[in-house]
Amino acid sequence: MMHNRPKVTLIAAMSIDGFIAPFDKEKLPSTTWTSKEDWQFFTKKSKEIGAMIMGSKTFETIKRALPERRMIVMTSDPSRYAEFSDPSLEFTSAEPAEILAQLHAIGTQEVALCGGAHIYALFMQLDLVDELLLTVEPYVFGEGIKLFSGQVERQFTLFDQQKINDSGTLVLHYQRIKKA
Ligand SMILES: NC(=O)c1ccc[n+]([C@@H]2O[C@H](COP(=O)([O-])OP(=O)(O)OC[C@H]3O[C@@H](n4cnc5c(N)ncnc54)[C@H](OP(=O)(O)O)[C@@H]3O)[C@@H](O)[C@H]2O)c1
Repeated sequence: MMHNRPKVTLIAAMSIDGFIAPFDKEKLPSTTWTSKEDWQFFTKKSKEIGAMIMGSKTFETIKRALPERRMIVMTSDPSRYAEFSDPSLEFTSAEPAEILAQLHAIGTQEVALCGGAHIYALFMQLDLVDELLLTVEPYVFGEGIKLFSGQVERQFTLFDQQKINDSGTLVLHYQRIKKA
């Protein structure tokens, strides 16, 4: 474990075929294809971790501060979000390493990386992702938003797996293999 930055745990819900959102989000909103058990898992885990990083497009789907968590929203234009005054919400144009250094400076041990595809890929390309918590919902979409937008190649090892409901929703917990 590295000590100069918080541990970064990527959390995502995806279809069997690796999409974090279907092509037609109007027809199949996330409230339809993700399970209640996944939402409960996400809520519990993100509260436990305490800090979240997400892209502005993902924030636009939430548009509020989630309780009991610090939320850091990445955007090239933080001034666009001046109307949000909740102290647990921060809008930043800082680069990933700088965000992590700032979190480290205030004693944050771990941060949940909460998407979307651009932000997942950005941190992965910089090799700043230590663990993956992937919920696989028993859907296939064929087309949609892939987990990573962009080319990445990293190796992980499965650390834990859990079936969280009768429909067969799986939570897969992977850890990054770092070569010495
Ligand atoms: N299933 C899941 O678990 C899950 C999780 C999260 C999201 N999602 C889905 O993913 C979709 C959104 O993903 P997305 O890839 O389109 O968008 P995203 O990753 O949420 O956000 C992209 C935005 O982040 C900002 N950004 C990117 N790189 C940056 C950098 N280096 N510095 C500062 N800001 C930066 C830019 O914001 P500005 O344009 O403001 O500059 C960019 O437009 C939504 O459909 C959402 O529902 C699914």
